[in-house]
Amino acid sequence: MVNEDVLKRTKQWRGYVEAKLGFRNHWYPAFFADEVKEGEPVKTKLLGENLLLNRIDGQVFAIKDQCLHRGVPLSKKLECYTKDTITCWYHAWTYQWKDGLLCDIMTDPSSQMIGKHKLKTYKVEEAKGLVFIFMGDIDPPPLSHDVAPNFLDDDMVIRGIKTEVNSNWRMGVENGFDSTHVFIHKDSPMMPENKTVVPLGFSPNRGEENEMVTVVKGEDGPTGVFDNIGAHSRPILEGTIKGEPVVHSVMGGDKRIALQISIWLPGTLKVDPFPDPSLIQFEWYVPRDETSHWYFRTLGRRVENAAEETAYDKEFHEHWKPLSLHGFNDDDIWAREAMQTFYEDDWGWVKEQLFEADSNIVAWRKLASEMNRGIQKKENL
Ligand code: FES
Ligand SMILES: [Fe+2]
Repeated sequence: MVNEDVLKRTKQWRGYVEAKLGFRNHWYPAFFADEVKEGEPVKTKLLGENLLLNRIDGQVFAIKDQCLHRGVPLSKKLECYTKDTITCWYHAWTYQWKDGLLCDIMTDPSSQMIGKHKLKTYKVEEAKGLVFIFMGDIDPPPLSHDVAPNFLDDDMVIRGIKTEVNSNWRMGVENGFDSTHVFIHKDSPMMPENKTVVPLGFSPNRGEENEMVTVVKGEDGPTGVFDNIGAHSRPILEGTIKGEPVVHSVMGGDKRIALQISIWLPGTLKVDPFPDPSLIQFEWYVPRDETSHWYFRTLGRRVENAAEETAYDKEFHEHWKPLSLHGFNDDDIWAREAMQTFYEDDWGWVKEQLFEADSNIVAWRKLASEMNRGIQKKENL
C-alpha cells in the first residue's frame, strides 16, 4: 500500500503513484519467444504475480504459479506427467495448462474437489518474437492498443534483450522518457562509432510550454505522449559552469537520430529513429515487483524479405547489441537503480523538485493516471 499522506499530496497523478506494481488489465511482454520452449515450463514474475509458462504444440499457455491447495509454487519442483497438465509436487493436485482446471488429484482420485476449481490462467499472444501476457481479468483489448505505434507493422523485424533491473518500473519509464537525462550518455562509444551526436541536454524555449508534448488518447489504438522538446528547445552541446565550458558533446558525425520520442501505456517507449537512421528503438519497463522491473530493449528494422531479415539478425548481434543496447543503454540501468532509494518509501514523489524540461514526464504521469485500465493491488497476488 502506498502511504495515504503521499497520495493526498500527489493528487495530480494519484493513480500513477498508486501503481507501484503497475497497471492491471494491460498487455506486457514476459519473454522472448525462444525462451519458451516446447514442453519446458519457465517461471517469471510480473506485477508481483508468480507465473508459469509452457509451450504445447507450439502454443504458449500461462498459469499462476501457486497451487490452490496450500499455495506452494508449482515451479519449486516441476512435475508434468502428461503433455497438457502440470502436477503439484506436494499432494499431486493436477491442473490443465489450457484453462487451469483441477482435472485430477492423484493422491485422492475420488476427491469432490476435482473438476470444480481452476487455477488462474492468463491470455497469451506472441508478436514480433515476444511473448505478451494480459495481466488482468477483463476481456483483453487488442495487443495493438498496448504497444507503441509501428511496433506491429508487417515489415518490422524486432531483435532485443531482456534484463532485470533493481528499481521500480516507473524509474525505468522516467529514465527512458526523460529528455535531459541524455547527459549520462555523454561518454558512450555509440556516438563516435556510429557517427552521430547526442547533445548534453535541451533548454526549453520559454513561452512555448504548451507545445512541449502531444497527448494521444487512443480510441482505437495506443494511449501515450509524444515529447516535442526537440522542436521547442535549444540543444546544449557545451556544458558551462559560471560561464566556463567544462564538458562537450562528442561530435561523432551528422547522422540525425532520436527525432521523435514517445511513451505509451502501460510503459513502453519508442525512440524513432535510434540508434541509427535505419532503426527504431522500442523498450518496455515491465513491473516485476515493487523494487524491480524487466527491461526489454529492442531494435526494429523494416525489411523487405527473408534475406534482409537474416542480414539484420547478424548485424544486430554483432554490432548494435554490443555498441548501443549495452554501450549506450547500460548507463540507464545504474541511473534507475540510483533513483530507487529516494522513491522506495513513496516520499520521493512529494520531495522531488521537477524543472522545465520535465514537462513530458508530468504529462505522462497525468495521462497514465487518467487512462490506465486498473491499478495492480496486493490482493491480486
Ligand atoms: S500444496 Fe499443492 S497439492 Fe497440496
Ligand atoms: Fe538513456
